Amino acid sequence: MNEEITLQADLWYRLAEQKAAHYFASLYEQVKEKNDVSPLINDFELWKKSHIGRRHSLLSIFSQAIRKPDSRDYHNYIRWLNQTGKLDGFLDRSVSYIYLRDLGKSLNDSATQTRIQQVVADVKRYLIRSLSANGGVEPEFMSLAGLYRWAQKEGIETAIIWVIDKLNSVSAHIPKEMNAEHSMRKLIKIITGVVLHVMEEMGDHTPPAERARRLDEAIRLGYSYGLTYPFIDDLLDSPVLTVREKEQYGSMIRTSLLTGTVPELGKLAGPNKEMIRYVHAELRDAYAYIKRLQRPETQRLFFEQSYIFFHAQDMDRIKELSNPSYTNEELYVPIILKSAFSRLIVRSVIHAPADEGFDQRTFYYGIYNQLADDFADMFEDIEAGAVTPFTYYLTYGAERPDLINPFELYWAVISHLIHQVYDADARTREVILSRVINGLKRCKQRVGVETYNEILNAFTSGIPEFNRLVQQMVERADDVDFFDKLLRDQMVTVLKNERREKQQFLDKVKTVRQQINSLLLLPKQDGMEPAKAAMIDLANYSLEGGGKRLRPMLTWVMGVDEYGLQPAAIAPLLRSLEYMHTASLIFDDLPSQDNAPVRRGRPTLHEMHDSATAELTGLYLIQKAIEEQASLDGFDAKVVMALMQYSSRRAGDMCAGQAMDLQSKGKVLSLEQLNSICFYKTGIAFEASLVMPAILAKAEAADIAGLTQFAYHAGIAFQIKDDLLDTEGHLHVLGKPAGKDIENNTSTFVTVLGQDGAKKEMWEHYSLAMEELKKMPRTPVFLKHLLTYIIHRDR
Ligand code: IPE
Ligand code: IPE
Ligand code: MG
Ligand code: MG
Ligand code: MG
Repeated sequence: MNEEITLQADLWYRLAEQKAAHYFASLYEQVKEKNDVSPLINDFELWKKSHIGRRHSLLSIFSQAIRKPDSRDYHNYIRWLNQTGKLDGFLDRSVSYIYLRDLGKSLNDSATQTRIQQVVADVKRYLIRSLSANGGVEPEFMSLAGLYRWAQKEGIETAIIWVIDKLNSVSAHIPKEMNAEHSMRKLIKIITGVVLHVMEEMGDHTPPAERARRLDEAIRLGYSYGLTYPFIDDLLDSPVLTVREKEQYGSMIRTSLLTGTVPELGKLAGPNKEMIRYVHAELRDAYAYIKRLQRPETQRLFFEQSYIFFHAQDMDRIKELSNPSYTNEELYVPIILKSAFSRLIVRSVIHAPADEGFDQRTFYYGIYNQLADDFADMFEDIEAGAVTPFTYYLTYGAERPDLINPFELYWAVISHLIHQVYDADARTREVILSRVINGLKRCKQRVGVETYNEILNAFTSGIPEFNRLVQQMVERADDVDFFDKLLRDQMVTVLKNERREKQQFLDKVKTVRQQINSLLLLPKQDGMEPAKAAMIDLANYSLEGGGKRLRPMLTWVMGVDEYGLQPAAIAPLLRSLEYMHTASLIFDDLPSQDNAPVRRGRPTLHEMHDSATAELTGLYLIQKAIEEQASLDGFDAKVVMALMQYSSRRAGDMCAGQAMDLQSKGKVLSLEQLNSICFYKTGIAFEASLVMPAILAKAEAADIAGLTQFAYHAGIAFQIKDDLLDTEGHLHVLGKPAGKDIENNTSTFVTVLGQDGAKKEMWEHYSLAMEELKKMPRTPVFLKHLLTYIIHRDR
């Protein structure tokens, strides 16, 4: 590598290191002299006036009467805050904190105050509206549909669709040794942070098109930078990579930062080569994207800050708990740097103009968060053998009197922030001390009183009186909760639940598919006439192969799990659905229709034999389907007749759908026409799969209407995905040839609206279908995941 560049980078780092060392020296001085404690005592005396012992007002007496719900109960918790008059303070605290920490503002500034009040009012209005509108368990915007609705309002659908796909793929690539939810949460938090930063830079007067462009950019930049967390920081911290891989990977990152280009990977031999290859490709694109948007004057800064961030992390990471002789500077300077530069970089990522105030405040702020996190994670870190100021002090504090007590340093940082950085501003004091007490409360709750006291014993012997005061606050202070913490907890819960539910969904799909496959094939009797046996062979040939069995699967789950019908009793219905569907595929593939040579991974019947054979097999399967339906002998005959009437009518409608599809070749269709064709040719089969078990179970008309609405949107979303796969997919995955629609001049969502437009429509129908599900008295979880599967599937 170019020596000049290396020297330059060394110089960057050394200058930053000097500044951090200077900061550390002043903190150290404060701790030694204990001259941070008395101003803090004073601060707490002022602070506690609004947090302890205000029990007189009518409202507060009233509020005590209503029991505080657990904050995990999101909607009820917000409702409680609102009823007890605490919502404003709750939001104000949190929004102020975000302006302080993430946006690096000074609260002591009237424009910032105006902005904060405005944001608080907006968020409050939004929360109150969603309280009355929705009974769901999770915050609306944490669902994909809710997110998409927001994207539509801002005109940034394309970027949101892009980032959702990206997040899915990151999540799928996180090795199981890592904590996927936390890595994902950090990545999402960075994206959100970058978006908020850009929103703040824009203010309210940016024209909508320009606003959309910049938000689109912010999402992509946020993702690009955010990848650092799962794939650099967390990955290198985890035991996933081998020593050799770590070395190779680390040097790739370093070279990227120094040269501005992600180098080629070279030969990989280790056990993680697939993952590394994926990460490498993602980082390369991300890096190129960030670089492309940089302006010449910000580009240097971006590289400088990234390098310092990475190098500081590296310096921090290579420490070993078994080494007894690190100096205080070696312990603290890298963490001052990594925690400050991870935040400073956000502005250079978005190529924002320089802001000295931001730089100053953010530089000093970082370590506060780092120490708060390290305090809370102390025992996990010890177990993992990680060196943090806390684990190191726990290990060597007794034998090394020169080691600084990190908990005392923590208070020095807080005192320095309040008094030096923020000029003893009252609002800042209020927010920071609330955050501090909240952090200690949360820690106590998480680790339990016993462990918490153990921690305190280990760290507070030098400041006993001050500690008594602090613990009194932890014990007694009210109104120290934060909205962003609530969201953080919700986010982890949502991510965890999603992952668990998705796994359950996949398991369910697997077992139900096996069951269906086991009852699908047509049996042959001994001594059967050869012509009849041949017909059965042809039908079975089409039924076998890699069919997904989605339609009978829906019927199974609704019939058995929702309506409590016996699997054996509805077996004929399951067969009939797959027979009809398979017949429709045989016809669809004929030369007179789509002329497709391969289906379900094997040559189509007309390829193997001829069109006449294919047509007859299709007809044969339809007759078999009717025969099956007429054999539903566990049900009332009238009900079965109603079912057959419905089924035949809907099958007829599907024929009309195929006819519309064929007649529309080469035409530019309206959205309405596209929807109608897709519903008729595809959506109806989904509707039938949901409605038929409901008919058998004599479900309420209102239930059936809800399912029909859901199926309408889910079916269209399914067909749009099919159209997208026709342009993006591959024969060996799809089991059918791609590119057929263009070849046949078929008018689809993709040919008419383009890929981007088709994706938007798919997401629109996805959101509508999700909204239908939410209206149902109890949302069938399977349908929710099926819908998500439909739009993310690759075959
Ligand atoms: C293909 O249906 C026909 C369409 C409606 C697009 P599937 O994609 O469900 O096909 P199989 O049953 O899995 O083969
Ligand atoms: C077919 O749509 C719908 C049917 C019900 C057969 P397509 O023609 O797009 O289905 P594929 O892509 O061939 O499976
Ligand atoms: Mg077709
Ligand atoms: Mg086709
Ligand atoms: Mg198709």
